[in-house]
Amino acid sequence: MHIAIIGTGNVARILTPKLLEAGHEVTLASRHPGDHQDSLVPVVGLRDAVDAADVVVNATPGRNSVEELSSIGPAAYAGKTLIDVGNAVDDSWELVYPHTSLAEELQQALPDAHIVKTLNTAAITVLADRSLVGGGGTVFVSSDHEGAKATTREFLAALGWDADSVIDLGGLLSARGAEHYFLMFAAVMRGIGTPTFNIQIVR
Ligand SMILES: NC(=O)c1ccc[n+]([C@@H]2O[C@H](COP(=O)([O-])OP(=O)(O)OC[C@H]3O[C@@H](n4cnc5c(N)ncnc54)[C@H](OP(=O)(O)O)[C@@H]3O)[C@@H](O)[C@H]2O)c1
Repeated sequence: MHIAIIGTGNVARILTPKLLEAGHEVTLASRHPGDHQDSLVPVVGLRDAVDAADVVVNATPGRNSVEELSSIGPAAYAGKTLIDVGNAVDDSWELVYPHTSLAEELQQALPDAHIVKTLNTAAITVLADRSLVGGGGTVFVSSDHEGAKATTREFLAALGWDADSVIDLGGLLSARGAEHYFLMFAAVMRGIGTPTFNIQIVR
């Protein structure tokens, strides 16, 4: 698939080589495309990246995501799978959407996008390389669009996530759980002194 990652930070840098290795095509969207001459993949403006892609990944700071993604108008995302990995927190790491979620706010702003929440419950280093934590762990998906969930499972497979390690939480409302978990993630990270960990659901 042709994947556009919005943002050129840590998430984009770590996911890009993994997605390329799995045979996907990747383009990055930047506010300053000319500043990335040494990039592995093309870096273009937001509209060009979204227009060319089958799948769009939101990898912008969560508190800025609705404004950034909406800047090209909602029609650009119509019918596309939009994988939202964002955590919307302020400078004090408090939730920006304590009574809802970034994923739901994005769905409201971009009503024809097929939004899937995933990959926001651990450090991206760990989510892109399970061997860092012994090969285990769980990731979660939330979406109102079954087709987009299937596409996202394919995307996750490129990062080494087999079907048994991906838990479907249900509709997009469940993204609140995955996003509000950020508070626990931050507490555990402070408690154990490293971001290199993941949670695993054991039945
Ligand atoms: N890092 C992790 O381990 C991790 C794990 C899971 C989820 N997440 C989430 O994934 C998202 C991206 O994380 P990240 O670590 O890649 O962040 P980052 O290193 O700060 O990169 C974010 C990128 O977003 C773009 N951007 C667009 N609008 C922006 C704005 N108003 N202010 C600043 N940057 C803006 C920038 O690219 P341009 O300047 O090129 O436009 C920037 O490089 C966040 O929502 C984060 O919570 C991160």
